[in-house]
Amino acid sequence: MNMRLVLLGAPGSGKGTQGERLAKKLNVPQLSTGDILRSAIRGGSELGKKADAFMSKGELVPNQLILDVMAERLAKDDCKNGYILDGFPRTIAQAEGLDKILEAANAKLDAAINIDVKEEEVIRRLGGRRQCSKCSAVYHNEFSPSKKGNICDKCDGELYQRGDDTDATIRNRLKIYKQETAPLIDYYKRCLKNVDGVGTGDEIFKRICSLIGI
Ligand code: AP5
Ligand code: MG
Repeated sequence: MNMRLVLLGAPGSGKGTQGERLAKKLNVPQLSTGDILRSAIRGGSELGKKADAFMSKGELVPNQLILDVMAERLAKDDCKNGYILDGFPRTIAQAEGLDKILEAANAKLDAAINIDVKEEEVIRRLGGRRQCSKCSAVYHNEFSPSKKGNICDKCDGELYQRGDDTDATIRNRLKIYKQETAPLIDYYKRCLKNVDGVGTGDEIFKRICSLIGI
């Protein structure tokens, strides 16, 4: 289905988890700036080198760098029929940049979905998260483990723990989320859909689908 969605929510609220399901159902790409940057770091590119210095501390990568990456990515053919934006935009400046990209393409967002989860819960979630080094699928040691232990159920890639999922860095990410990203809830009020992000992954997915009518 032709849809352009933004996923908002604190670190650990489930943007990656729900983004993956939405992308499958809508048959559009899930564009996670976090995953794009982590793959650039693994590949050792210039972008990766620049981003690593910020990401390892839980700081935001500079707006212009992100906007350049996303302008290029959103111009690709697979974005013609829509996309799920996961972790972008993350500041008002990035949201304004996205508005310009959309305007130039004569396109508009269908909805901004805010996944609402309390801080104690996201801390619990991030502490046990594991991610696939090949396909970026998201797991949790306790809540949604891979059936194959440290190997991805979907692609047999190796699971790893993100370097920014440590106590001190998680706290910094949450602080920055409140300062820089939470204001986007107001910025997107014209197309905002608030979803209770507590429950099973299936329950939350159903809530989102019903909110956006799919
Ligand atoms: P990014 O990768 O976007 O990280 P984040 O925003 O901190 O969000 P997370 O990926 O940690 O959480 P999520 O909401 O995707 O939750 P998930 O589904 O994994 O960004 C990382 C860094 O990159 C930033 O700090 C910044 O440096 C940089 N960056 C990225 N984008 C940028 C931008 N636009 N501008 C500037 N800098 C940028 O779920 C978390 C865990 O919970 C998992 O283990 C999952 O299995 C589990 N879980 C999910 N749902 C449930 C549930 N319902 N019940 C129980 N457990 C659940
Ligand atoms: Mg994520």
